[in-house]
Amino acid sequence: MGEKNEAYLKKVYIQTWGCQMNVADSERMLGLLGRLNYRPTELAQDADFILLNTCHIREKARHKVVSRLGELRPLKEENPHLIIAVSGCVAQAESQALAKEVPYIDIIFGPDQIEDLPNLLEKVIEKSEVDKKVSESYSTNKAAPMVITKFDAKEEGYSIPIDVVPPYYDENKNEVTRYVNIIKGCNNFCTFCVVPYTRGREKSRPEKEILDEVNFLVQKGVKEIILLGQNVNSYGLDLIGAPDIHSSNGKLPFADLLYTVSSVPEVERIRFTTSNPHDFTPALAKAFADLPKVTNSFHLAVQSGSDHMLDRMNRQYTRAEYFERVKWIRDVRPEIAFSTDIIVGFPGETEQDFEDTLSLVQEMQYAFIFAFKYSIRKGTPATRFKDQVPEDIKDRRLQTLLEFQRKETERQNRAEIGKIREVLVLYKNRKEENSWYGRSYEGRLVKVQSPRNLIGKLIPVKIIGANLTALEGHLV
Ligand code: 5AD
Ligand code: SF4
Repeated sequence: MGEKNEAYLKKVYIQTWGCQMNVADSERMLGLLGRLNYRPTELAQDADFILLNTCHIREKARHKVVSRLGELRPLKEENPHLIIAVSGCVAQAESQALAKEVPYIDIIFGPDQIEDLPNLLEKVIEKSEVDKKVSESYSTNKAAPMVITKFDAKEEGYSIPIDVVPPYYDENKNEVTRYVNIIKGCNNFCTFCVVPYTRGREKSRPEKEILDEVNFLVQKGVKEIILLGQNVNSYGLDLIGAPDIHSSNGKLPFADLLYTVSSVPEVERIRFTTSNPHDFTPALAKAFADLPKVTNSFHLAVQSGSDHMLDRMNRQYTRAEYFERVKWIRDVRPEIAFSTDIIVGFPGETEQDFEDTLSLVQEMQYAFIFAFKYSIRKGTPATRFKDQVPEDIKDRRLQTLLEFQRKETERQNRAEIGKIREVLVLYKNRKEENSWYGRSYEGRLVKVQSPRNLIGKLIPVKIIGANLTALEGHLV
């Protein structure tokens, strides 16, 4: 194994499920682990440390994690030094059940303990040394996992991180676009959503820390920064001591952050996700008007077109207010491509409520949508709503909605033919030689042919073809 050798580089295998937040968390953990001499590996069998960063947003989430752990069990049996950890939202929400079902996990920790990972690892290694002294037969039947899932781990005396987690960049990947986490948690408590329970309350990163990370990434060659949070619009309200957007004297620290990031010369494009329409002021529309680096795409989750449903979901805006905010942005960016998240079959949703969603989607002309059938999340208020919608009705509504949007996306993509769009080239097309994929300013995927390596280039492209998923263009 060579662990006595100072120069020995340990290997970590990370498997990430779920949203961009989890992807960013995994990168953050790789940054921390890099300091401890861990390097990433794509092969679980080569790893000294296996980390499963999990997602709880879909049904049977724990089941999937447990079954993956079952596949990994032989590795643990072969190598008693192997450390296995489970992080993310399943770890946070179902730690006890996980610990019971899979006793050979070494660490279970929630999204609020990421900075403690080095600490936790050290404790497990120490403990395994002690165990070895007690008994030579270190087996998968050892003591229960270490479980750390309280919010703000400092209360438990585990947290010592004082300095900033170094950002992680894989030199081999040639990444053009990167997520930068700006706020974690959520204060909104939409009645269907587990996030406030798995990720805790909103906590913003200081602007200086964000800027340092952006500067680090652009020096590595990154051109596009995607600012990330469960609810980016409320960025910084906690830093200025405002309980919500309406008590911040018209200030929107998120808009200020957009100006700051825009001022970094090497940043070519800025995107952000996700926005809740209720934490939204005209200052954001002004930032769109002032800052050309902020791209012409906007993911603004609506969830439903019915005021009755929006109220029961505790979204804190009406359909009319949603359209009002959209207009603020469309007035300054007429070509902006909106996208959204929609839930069908929320408890109590009538045919009329669903029709209201369909009519909103028709009127909005979204570039694309993510649509979900409502499903129960343990511990959330909507679980207790009596009027759950039957599965077959949810299925039908989902199909109707997706079918409508499929036609709309195709229509919009075809309308791009003949236009010249500025494309940021992101990666090589693995299926064809001399072929590259990038995104237009409106966020549409564009395939371009060229014998030259175009990765990282911002180039004008004439659109000559289109299907449901991508446009095709040639260099002009
Ligand atoms: N059921 C269905 N969809 C959900 N989402 C969140 N919670 C649920 C749930 N219980 C969807 C919302 C959210 C997206 C990330 O996932 O649309 O915006
Ligand atoms: Fe969940 Fe609502 Fe917060 Fe989004 S805004 S993370 S849907 S509680």
